[in-house]
Amino acid sequence: MRLPAIVLNFKTYPEILGKKGWDLAKRFAAISDETGASIVLCPPATDIAHIAKLVHVPVFAQHVDAVEPGPTTGWTPPEALLEAGAAGTLINHSERKVAWEEMAKSIPRCQKIGLEVVACADDLAEAETLAKFAPEYIAIEPPELIGGDVSVTTAKPEVISRAVERIRAANPNVVVLCGAGVRTRKDVAKAIELGTSGVLLATGVLKAKDPEGALTDLIRGLPSGAPRRTRSR
Ligand code: G3P
Repeated sequence: MRLPAIVLNFKTYPEILGKKGWDLAKRFAAISDETGASIVLCPPATDIAHIAKLVHVPVFAQHVDAVEPGPTTGWTPPEALLEAGAAGTLINHSERKVAWEEMAKSIPRCQKIGLEVVACADDLAEAETLAKFAPEYIAIEPPELIGGDVSVTTAKPEVISRAVERIRAANPNVVVLCGAGVRTRKDVAKAIELGTSGVLLATGVLKAKDPEGALTDLIRGLPSGAPRRTRSR
């Protein structure tokens, strides 16, 4: 993904299921085109292939399994995500936790085939340990603030700045994102000021009365100027 970025986790909100999500994805991609902002979409697994064909912005999965393609009914190996058109995946979201030993297998397997990994951390200790697995990105998201009205950037700014420090100390190659309750341009600007390279969010856009307006507002919080780095399409 290009940085700084706004990563939109669709979760499985009713507002994004099926055609509603396809339509939103097209509208979000159009905003990315108009503004030049880096937007990443994370639809449910059932919609990755369709949305990846509809839009040119990166599409990430919400989860991946460490299994090999083969007799693994109901699981999602990295290769299946790649074939579906995903550019990367979230892993270890607080709503879909993953065992350390699974991540030790799945993160390098994703990277080997060119899928980028955004690993989510609930707290500082988890972020520091995750950094040793060398995902491209770690998103620090205190679970108690997810889906709430107060952004992590307001409620717990020190958690973000300490996460940035500790992740950098553990692995300087990992890019830090943050999320939980992010809703406005002010939240995005604060996230960047605290040392992150973007935000991971859901409710502030996908539950908004005007999702396009909400996304456009968030983009206004990004620093102006050229993206610093491109890591995938
Ligand atoms: O993955 C993003 C997420 O968990 C944060 O959710 O609804 O607080 O933006 P939300």
